[in-house]
Amino acid sequence: MKRNSPDSGAGRENLWPPEARWLHAGIAVGVTIQLFSSLWMTPDWQHADYASFTQLLFSFHAWVGLTTALFLLWQWLWIATSARVRQQFFPLTGPWQPVFNDLRLLLHGKLQSPGPASRLAALIHGLGLLLVSWMALTGTIIFFFLPQGGTPPGAVLQTLIPLHKALSNLVWAYWIGHVGMFSVHLLRRDRILDIFRLGS
Ligand code: HEM
Ligand code: HEM
Repeated sequence: MKRNSPDSGAGRENLWPPEARWLHAGIAVGVTIQLFSSLWMTPDWQHADYASFTQLLFSFHAWVGLTTALFLLWQWLWIATSARVRQQFFPLTGPWQPVFNDLRLLLHGKLQSPGPASRLAALIHGLGLLLVSWMALTGTIIFFFLPQGGTPPGAVLQTLIPLHKALSNLVWAYWIGHVGMFSVHLLRRDRILDIFRLGS
């Protein structure tokens, strides 16, 4: 596979604006914690005394989930107020040519250079944002219906939990694909690490 310009060279400008880097840090770390905590947590509706590690992990899932929801709210406010960012993630009115171009390149085993441009990768990032926002929204509503003081879970909670769980495998698929593409870019020594540089 063809290599791009190497991810080295101090002094050059970061590809992503600071806001994009902080948002990515909050959302990527938050959703990754949510995915892994969900593997071992055991919510105990009747005896929420957090006596075991797995029960404590559920409390962690709830609070990290609420924090991630705030980062996502920030992301959507940015999308709503910036035409450039809206166009990057959701090129609804086109142009679609760059997206099809990237698809064609991909089919020939070539990757586009990274960066916050409106192309195939950005469209997939936009769909990923919609997906994790569904998790954050349903999770946040769940939070308000958690049983208090040992009462059994009510009908609303019983309805919300399947809605929250419905798309969790898609979030895993997104995460695996996204980290997979990150690793391929890293192997090609692309300027991919810029998105993690919060300070400069
Ligand atoms: C499921 C959790 C994650 C979500 C929802 C997510 C979401 C996103 C979004 C929305 C972007 C576009 C940012 C922008 O251009 O403003 C992005 C880019 C990126 N993410 Fe993530 N991310 C996640 C996890 C990760 C992880 C774990 C890594 C690395 C180990 C990572 C590495 C990257 C990189 C390198 C880019 C830049 C890609 C490009 O140039 O097109 N992300 N991610
Ligand atoms: C970005 C935010 C969130 C993400 C990505 C997320 C992700 C997940 C995932 C992947 C699962 C496992 C689903 C399955 O087993 O198929 C899960 C389960 C669950 N989550 Fe979340 N979650 C988030 C926020 C929240 C919040 C804020 C709450 C509030 C308390 C919450 C409560 C729950 C509950 C009750 C379950 C079901 C546990 C069970 O029945 O074992 N989540 N979540």
